[in-house]
Amino acid sequence: MRRVPTAAAVAAWLLPLAVAGGGAAGGALAADMAPAGDPVSRGAYIFQAAGCLGCHSNEKEGGAPLAGGRALATPFGTFHTPNITPDPETGIGRWSDADFIRAFREGLRPDGAALFPAFPYASYTRMTDRDLLDLKAYLFSQPAVAAPNKPHDLTPPFSWRFLLPVWQWMYLTPGPVPDDPAKPPAWNRGRYLVDALGHCGECHSPRTLMGGMDAGRYLAGNPDGPDGDKVPGITGAESKGIGDWSDGDLTLLLETGLTPEGDVVGGAMGEVVRNSTSKLTADDRAAIAAYLRTVPAKD
Ligand code: HEC
Ligand code: HEC
Repeated sequence: MRRVPTAAAVAAWLLPLAVAGGGAAGGALAADMAPAGDPVSRGAYIFQAAGCLGCHSNEKEGGAPLAGGRALATPFGTFHTPNITPDPETGIGRWSDADFIRAFREGLRPDGAALFPAFPYASYTRMTDRDLLDLKAYLFSQPAVAAPNKPHDLTPPFSWRFLLPVWQWMYLTPGPVPDDPAKPPAWNRGRYLVDALGHCGECHSPRTLMGGMDAGRYLAGNPDGPDGDKVPGITGAESKGIGDWSDGDLTLLLETGLTPEGDVVGGAMGEVVRNSTSKLTADDRAAIAAYLRTVPAKD
């Protein structure tokens, strides 16, 4: 019986080291391959790659950018996104760097209450500290808008914030994932763009009954996506995925929204292309394609 606790103890030792290594070491780390620049312009790029604008702006009703108020319909009820401008009263102007990192990494507000995973922190948790701090620098360079948050309109028990720590215990694995040294840098960059920043799995993976991403069906498509839309699979599966797409097909879609059949993607993906993937560098779009093509096929 001695070997089991020993192995567990070794794993407990290695895990924090691996996580720390993923965030801290220098060199050609996936997260460091963003275009160089000062923190605010780096943060602007991360803001686009992570697609923050759409959810946090009530464009339809003429709301100011980042002032929140957009209604997000989900199977659990309707969320109203909060104001994330630097306004000190109604926005996040009083948040410290540590507050900001904790919200993304652990899904906690400054007052310690848990955040709903409709804010896709189960993906953003993989962002590095540097990317998060640059993102904050960018947000704090934007105009402050006074706009109070609207309460969510959720069905119990999903409205009960105090139950969220259970959800987090089940579905949140905090911290960056270290680069895989056996894989090329572009693959690691692609994985970071897909899993951490682009949070593609939040829409393209189906959800469990408790609203977690179903890890066993990673990127295999989601019958019940945002606004009740069906979201196609983007694994290498030929029938329900993108197995028969070329790299060029994929990067063209990410740049322009055009599919190989000549359609234009609409709805939620139209917004992803407009606000996010069309604004990436060609290298980053190629990295997404390089990574997606290696995701095991799921029909
Ligand atoms: C899919 C929609 C969606 C996306 C994308 C999204 N958010 Fe949010 N965000 C939400 C929702 C919904 C909440 C409210 C969660 C809650 O009330 O617990 C939220 C909460 C937050 C909060 C906490 C604010 C507060 O006052 O408690 C911050 C900060 C935040 N988001 C910043 C961002 C940034 C920066 C990005 C891009 C990296 C982003 N969000 C992307 C939906 C989204
Ligand atoms: C907010 C939800 C959402 C997010 C986030 C999202 N997608 Fe999509 N995606 C969709 C929907 C919905 C469609 C179907 C659009 C249509 O058919 O008009 C789609 C379609 C696609 C397609 C076309 C597949 C096909 O068979 O036609 C690809 C490729 C794709 N997404 C890749 C990505 C990548 C890569 C990311 C992350 C960078 C991503 N998506 C993030 C919702 C999303």
